[in-house]
Amino acid sequence: MTKINAVITGVQGYLPEYVLNNEELSRMVDTSDEWIMTRIGIKERHILREKGKGTSDIALEAVTKLLEKTGTSPDEIDFVLCATVTPDMPFPATASIIADKAGIKNAFHYDLNAGCSGFLYALTTATQFIETGRMKKILVIGAEKMSSIVNYTDRQTCPIFGDGAGVILLEPTTENVGVMDMKLQSDGVGRIHLHMKAGGSANPASHETIDAMEHYIYQEGQHVFKWAVSKMADISVEIMERNGITPDTLNWFVPHQANMRIIEATAKRMGIRKEQVMINIEKYGNTTAATLPLCLWEWESQLRKGDNIILASFGAGFTWGALYLKWGYDGK
Ligand code: UT7
Repeated sequence: MTKINAVITGVQGYLPEYVLNNEELSRMVDTSDEWIMTRIGIKERHILREKGKGTSDIALEAVTKLLEKTGTSPDEIDFVLCATVTPDMPFPATASIIADKAGIKNAFHYDLNAGCSGFLYALTTATQFIETGRMKKILVIGAEKMSSIVNYTDRQTCPIFGDGAGVILLEPTTENVGVMDMKLQSDGVGRIHLHMKAGGSANPASHETIDAMEHYIYQEGQHVFKWAVSKMADISVEIMERNGITPDTLNWFVPHQANMRIIEATAKRMGIRKEQVMINIEKYGNTTAATLPLCLWEWESQLRKGDNIILASFGAGFTWGALYLKWGYDGK
């Protein structure tokens, strides 16, 4: 029997209009453009400011444009999978809200939370449905309104995160392109270093949790940094080696955009040049589950059919992983 591969046939991103730059941040907390650029590598990030709008609204912009540009009718979509840590509400799933707003009526939908590795985990999940032959068209979304959980009085975390969304259309093919291999890993011991303290079932929202500012991102930066550097590099090198990819045969490396220093350290371990690495952290910051599809979207016009691409991430959980794909079409 011919093997069915899962191939990306379209990608689209969306960033909210408002741009929060380092100068404005420096007026809000005790920081500077110089510190943020040297320690993290971010110049500006996009923020959704409209009251009452959430992650689904950011994602909807990307989904609508993707359906349009791939000539796909909402009725054709089988499955909508949304990776996010900032759902519109605890339930129902943001994927269901997006699907309803986009007029998608013949699909099932759910959310997936794997921190910054959410998109990689979601792409892996969706790949299984395609490879078994059960599904024909899947939307895999990474979308975040990180500004809804950022404490803009905490200089340790507020420069890092931004809002945004990216979505891909995943379809079957019998050609030798698409998702080739992946490895995902998690270790729950990492949860103490990166989490949100309140608002879940263990510590529901109360006056006390609000007074204690426990509805924001809590991150022990240095600890996360050390794990991120070693885990993302190790797993990326492993995926390269077991698929026989060398620095010369790798076309693109797409790393999670958390910190320029983490990206550079990973690229160095892989023995690849900076020109092979998709980097847009300077413009968008860390958009958590949205960083990888936002990179693919931005580089889409430069991609060629058969390009060897490795995606890699590290995030809350801890979760990390790497995925090897052969790109499926020539960028327009
Ligand atoms: O995407 C999910 C996974 N997350 C990550 O991968 C994030 C990993 N961590 C990091 O990227 C980095 O650890 C941070 C960017 C969060 C922090 O950078 P760092 O180089 O680890 O800084 P630090 O926390 O060690 O702080 C160094 C100094 C401290 O001052 P003292 O104690 O040395 O006097 C901080 O108070 O920098 C100070 N500092 C700041 N100074 C100016 C911390 N934040 C700021 C700031 N502006 N915004």
